[in-house]
Amino acid sequence: MGIETSCDETAVALIEGNTKDLKRGVTVIGNIVATSADLHAKTGGIIPENAARMQIKSILPVISEAMNIAFPNISDSAQIKKIDAIAVAFGPGLIGSLLIGVETAKTLSYLWNKPLIPVNHLVAHIYANWITKDKQSDFSKNNLVPKFPALALVVSGGHTDLILMKKHFLNSKNDIEWIGGTCDDAAGEAFDKTARILDLPYPGGPSISAEANKYLERNESKHLNLFPRPIINSSDYNWSFSGLKTAVMNYKREHETANISCTSAEIQEAIVDVLVEKSIKAIKEFRPKSFILSGGVAANSRLRRVFVQRLESIKMKTDFHVPEPKYCTDSGASIAAAAFYNPKFRRWQDTTGIPNLEILGET
Ligand code: KG4
Ligand code: ZN
Repeated sequence: MGIETSCDETAVALIEGNTKDLKRGVTVIGNIVATSADLHAKTGGIIPENAARMQIKSILPVISEAMNIAFPNISDSAQIKKIDAIAVAFGPGLIGSLLIGVETAKTLSYLWNKPLIPVNHLVAHIYANWITKDKQSDFSKNNLVPKFPALALVVSGGHTDLILMKKHFLNSKNDIEWIGGTCDDAAGEAFDKTARILDLPYPGGPSISAEANKYLERNESKHLNLFPRPIINSSDYNWSFSGLKTAVMNYKREHETANISCTSAEIQEAIVDVLVEKSIKAIKEFRPKSFILSGGVAANSRLRRVFVQRLESIKMKTDFHVPEPKYCTDSGASIAAAAFYNPKFRRWQDTTGIPNLEILGET
């Protein structure tokens, strides 16, 4: 069972996998995500106290619903027997939200006598790429999982990190390397903050993307270079997104009647461009067998398409992996998948939430 409550999603999933055949990936057998995004849309962004209160309301019903989907028509005690371990996101995230999942997982671990596996939320985003089957949506990836060495780009609301993985996280810290990341705002944050400037609803990524798609359906995407692409040609693998806010703010002030769909397409293209170009540069240098895209921003259809096109154009033998859109954003399924491949058990007494956990912090 995977439990995820680090922000505004209360998410629980049950997965199954064969520990003797790790190359097949894992199957999701029950997955529920309750989101309080509508509440945060009213305030134009997340108020942590509101998010935590919604976590408390949702956590038990979401656990019970996920179990009923995974194990229908059997008693509660029979359902509990089927669970091997409980995994929970213990950071990074909002402390009030995180603690709801962490304390619930600790209590269930004690009550049900199940081992507990604390999971780094950012690592879980990467492991969404090991979900190869979903019984609820009839989705199947033919057991295709990433191969090592793999280069993973995590693009979420709070993080933008490029990681070189030679093995699973469990095996050796020396085989996982941080290659680069953002100097300021995260890619998702750039979507969220520019959406707010354009008065588009929270969360900004899907809003900008929907507006941009309206524009792209009518127009070619070739000339979308209104906004700057900071440090795109620098020799490192870093990004900087904070200047985009200022550029969009200035543009809006100078063009009061600017078309929102067109401006959204320009914003999206500026973010996609720098993410793709820096990643392609890293792929050329490190020559990974697989490139992994992950995190909420990976749900962006334009980003997914441009990655596929650019990877084809460089004609390298790097295969491309991106989760089903619903497993790009926060889910209990990715927490459980990360735990399946990295079963680092910890006593419930020694487990707590760590709001500022880094991707290569405790994993
Ligand atoms: O991974 P995630 O669900 O939560 C965090 O760990 O932060 O990512 C949320 C971020 C938000 O910034 C949201 O605007 C962005 O992912 N996002 C998108 C899309 N869907 C979610 N950004 C661009 N296009 C999307 N379709
Ligand atoms: Zn996330």
